[in-house]
Amino acid sequence: MGTESKVDDILLRCIGCGALTPVSESGLACARCDDILEVVFPPAPDAAGKLNFDADALRSVWLERRASHLPVDESGVWRFREVLPALGEGHSPITLGEGNTPLYELSRCASSAGVRTLYAKHLGMNPTGSFKDTGMTVAASFARQDGFRWVACASTGNTSASMAAYAARGGMRSLVLIPDGKISWSKLSQALDYGAITCQVKTDFDGCMGLLNEIVRRMPIYLLNSINPFRLEGQKTVAYELLEQFDWRVPDHVIVPGGNLGNCSALGKALVEMQALGLISTLPKLSVIQAEGANALIRTMRETGGKKLIRVQADTMATAIRIGNPGSWKKAVRVLEATGGTVEQVSEVEIALAKAEIGADGIGCEPASAVTLAGLKKLVARGFVEREETVVLILTGHLLKDPDFTLKFHRGDLFAGTAHERESKVLTSQQRAPIVLDATVEAVLKVLETAEKQN
Ligand code: F0G
Repeated sequence: MGTESKVDDILLRCIGCGALTPVSESGLACARCDDILEVVFPPAPDAAGKLNFDADALRSVWLERRASHLPVDESGVWRFREVLPALGEGHSPITLGEGNTPLYELSRCASSAGVRTLYAKHLGMNPTGSFKDTGMTVAASFARQDGFRWVACASTGNTSASMAAYAARGGMRSLVLIPDGKISWSKLSQALDYGAITCQVKTDFDGCMGLLNEIVRRMPIYLLNSINPFRLEGQKTVAYELLEQFDWRVPDHVIVPGGNLGNCSALGKALVEMQALGLISTLPKLSVIQAEGANALIRTMRETGGKKLIRVQADTMATAIRIGNPGSWKKAVRVLEATGGTVEQVSEVEIALAKAEIGADGIGCEPASAVTLAGLKKLVARGFVEREETVVLILTGHLLKDPDFTLKFHRGDLFAGTAHERESKVLTSQQRAPIVLDATVEAVLKVLETAEKQN
């Protein structure tokens, strides 16, 4: 993965053929079968079949670091460094203090979904407003250690915002390929401000990814999409932190949105590892929710039992997950099998309603994150999630990531002129359009009076 690497002891395993390669001799795909790779962790047990880890010691060192002011300890990712690939001597991480994200109880959403206890782990509270920061701090640090001048990604917006920030902090240049249109301008503006060279390419995410794969073959550019196994190692720490927040008691269900399927793969890898390390004794069921219009994993599971990817032409207003050819689909299938999770798809109107409900609980998130609540409702209806079970929704992006969607929703024109217009009538009770008034006390009091009557 570069010539200056001093990290030969990190092993990568191909998820297709299982071949093992030291990171210093490897690219981002298997040299034998071209499938994607994963970091091997935990390392093989010793001759006595024991892993060299003490679960109690790990738990306490991770807690102790919360009182430290060293950047590497203040990071909610590097705080868990015993489970991450180690940077070489003399190399420090590029960190913005990522991770350490809150766990909220969602009481109103719980009753609308039909469960007693519902939590949201809000990854939108990361430095650039999405979960991508937890992986980017690790992969960008390895890119810098390997001496790369340029990093690049194809993105539906959040990866590019995160990559641009970490590249800037690490003194590297960044190249972004985003689909022209169909990405939120607030994510685009982040990439611009953090100094990325940003190309709006006349294709969709899958088209951008195809172009970039070819570009990194020709140029010494480090690819920072989630097929990069170091990204997923950083994203793993979300699950470690979640279990720590639960005092290592295991929730019954964790529900995550699916796009390129890196995030569910990372969380699932972490859960399986935690069990191997003796940190937890059972696994939560990890389920993946997609938009109906971008449902490659659902179709793959239902039509081929997870054996063969069914690509789709993706379309959804939840632009972050507008992806039809997910790079990490095999890893995701493995995670579903390992944890006993399931898949579900939700409609555009269901996503909009769930997003408004999460907002009304005083939390808020971007549309792609809201698929989790919409999906939970269906999993309860299916009987897959039971009322007494504890459920955690992984909210992946901040409410302010897509203000256009939110404003259109409250003004009542999100679905105007679309095929969903009639179905969207159910949303009226959640809509709170801004009220334009004359500058008089009476006018404001009248608004209050009407609002009081409505509730
Ligand atoms: N939620 C948000 C807010 C996202 O930005 C993404 C992916 C996902 C969920 C899906 O995660 O791809 O790991 O399954 N965004 C990528 C991007 C693709 O370019 O920002 P995934």
